Amino acid sequence: MEPVTDALEEICRRLAGVADGAVADYIPQLALADPAAFGLALVSMDGHRYQAGDAHTPFTIQSVSKPFVYALALADLGPDAVAARVGAEPSGEAFNAISLEPGTGRPANPMVNAGAIVATSLVRGADAGERFERIRACLSAFAGRALDVDEEVYASEAATGDRNRALAYLMRAAGALDGDVGEEVDTYFRQCSVRVTACDLAAMAATLAHGGANPVTGEQVVTEDVATRVMAVMATCGMYDRAGTWLLDVGLPAKSGVAGGLIAVSPARFGIAVYSPPLDEAGNPVRGVRALTEVSRRFGLHMM
Ligand code: DON
Repeated sequence: MEPVTDALEEICRRLAGVADGAVADYIPQLALADPAAFGLALVSMDGHRYQAGDAHTPFTIQSVSKPFVYALALADLGPDAVAARVGAEPSGEAFNAISLEPGTGRPANPMVNAGAIVATSLVRGADAGERFERIRACLSAFAGRALDVDEEVYASEAATGDRNRALAYLMRAAGALDGDVGEEVDTYFRQCSVRVTACDLAAMAATLAHGGANPVTGEQVVTEDVATRVMAVMATCGMYDRAGTWLLDVGLPAKSGVAGGLIAVSPARFGIAVYSPPLDEAGNPVRGVRALTEVSRRFGLHMM
């Protein structure tokens, strides 16, 4: 399997010079990231790990958490109860858009912030502490190791996250969100501040590819039905207002995050992840998009 590592290393070397994009700074702590950091990791269905570059550098998961917490909500409530609260439509909107369907007030897209805040609020638990602990445990099971929170990034987002609070208040006014807005958004901020590496994200993506069972630890984290639903939503909604172009060019379910993480799933084959902080205008990592477009073309992974 040496050719896999060779290909990852070659892509890493060749795209290292791409200087487009800008590191996110609307969460002040994220602006401290090294724009040159660049890592790739791949986990296959037999649990083999391949990596290149900064694949062990920690960063915060941010929006890459959204499909996994959506999976937990699906596992907790079932698809119908989740669908009553958050849609599954590629809204074509920016990640921080005011996403409320006319009539229901329900956010259309579970991968934009509004829909993700609702998904987080649906996770079962006696109180906010228990709900976050279940989210952390779920993300850890997908990754195959115990993940923790970057408290500095969490504090930075909590201090500046008024747009997300505003979205949550709008959703509560429309009847789409129950509970205490402060607590719901706080749980979402903590979820976004969970610390991962590209290797962790590749294992998380590989768990979806492997029918919900982590191919490294063997743990069945979610059912195959939940994994299939999550991959479908990632395919149509994972790249925000670039989701259509992404599906055309790359043809794989994917999800990006503002700290520079990007995952893609090749169902029944592997999970792959990139870490590179500079983002395009849609909030997707520039080198990550380039790298996974190449991987898809080179290995003929486009699903259509
Ligand atoms: O809610 C936010 O704005 C961030 N915690 C996450 C946004 C994000 O990762 C968008 N992705 N590219």
